[in-house]
Amino acid sequence: MTSGVPRILAIGKATQDVFLTSNEFDPHTEGKVVYTHLPLGVKMEVSNVTFATGGNASNVAVTFARQGLHSEYMWTLGHDPASETVLRDLDVEGVETARVVHDDKYQAGYSTILIATNGERTILNHRGVSTDEHGTDLDFAAITEADWVYPTSLANGGLELLRRIVDTAEKGGTKVMLNPAGPELAEPAKLKALLESVEILCVNKEEMQQLVEGETLEELVRHALHYVPVVIVSDGPNGVVASDGKTIVRAGMYEDVPVIDRTGAGDAFASGFLSQWAQGRTLMESVLFASANSTSVVTKIGAKEGILHAGVALHSMPISEKDF
Ligand SMILES: Nc1ncnc2c1ncn2[C@@H]1O[C@H](COP(=O)(O)OP(=O)(O)OP(=O)(O)O)[C@@H](O)[C@H]1O
Ligand SMILES: [Mg+2]
Repeated sequence: MTSGVPRILAIGKATQDVFLTSNEFDPHTEGKVVYTHLPLGVKMEVSNVTFATGGNASNVAVTFARQGLHSEYMWTLGHDPASETVLRDLDVEGVETARVVHDDKYQAGYSTILIATNGERTILNHRGVSTDEHGTDLDFAAITEADWVYPTSLANGGLELLRRIVDTAEKGGTKVMLNPAGPELAEPAKLKALLESVEILCVNKEEMQQLVEGETLEELVRHALHYVPVVIVSDGPNGVVASDGKTIVRAGMYEDVPVIDRTGAGDAFASGFLSQWAQGRTLMESVLFASANSTSVVTKIGAKEGILHAGVALHSMPISEKDF
């Protein structure tokens, strides 16, 4: 562990995302299902192409770097164009990537995202090829060298790999922030068994309802605090409730912005929180920045473009704090 600037290690999948906009991606309703018709054998015009990189762990690493923290990313990547693009993006952002494992057997994820005229999207996703459930090839020593580890979207590894990461962190005195993605949420009972080794749990309302009982965000937070010292539950534009067991913070929307692309909202929120909390900011300050960061991200295409840089001026928002 280090003193001074916090060192945060993000572990998990990365992808290249290509967003395509076209007036021809016009929704048609058939029964209850809405389709974008892509007639076979026809060349359709695309009016806009946006290249971006994503994957939860690579997104959060960029928040930490833009906030001036020592940000490190570790995963298995190949020599395919998507892997190269992911790595270049992280290098440009000042994320340390020395622990990325390169091997021809691995491949970054790749998504083509068709943005329809009504703002909905159809995603053609290739999940890539990543390390197995043992984290073979990953350097677990990197975990104990960090102050915080942020594992998410561990692909095939899922819960097995998460267990290994969390156990390593616990032995080495590294704190764990958990904002689980699909692979980790597949078996909520197993995920729950890991929570005693987690310092901060940040999930949305539906995800938390798979872990603990509760109707309201506050009920969910109170129940989750039996397992984890710091809990944050978000509910999209309806706001968020967070508690560290001492006070409880309730926040609404930071700003009512036009949503261009929701990709990365949850990542920006969770990483925004940790970027402040790890520097010793209060619960309220951390929630405010998390809200501002995620709100900025949804106004841009791609998960990283809107991530806030250090020193940006924040405005106030509906937020209150009371004793727990
Ligand atoms: N429509 C919106 N307008 C403004 N801010 C939003 C909107 N949607 C989400 N946000 C911001 O993003 C945060 C996280 O969103 P949400 O609760 O939907 O997380 P999530 O379901 O985990 O997202 P993801 O699908 O990216 O994982 C919210 O707390 C809010 O600050
Ligand atoms: Mg989420």
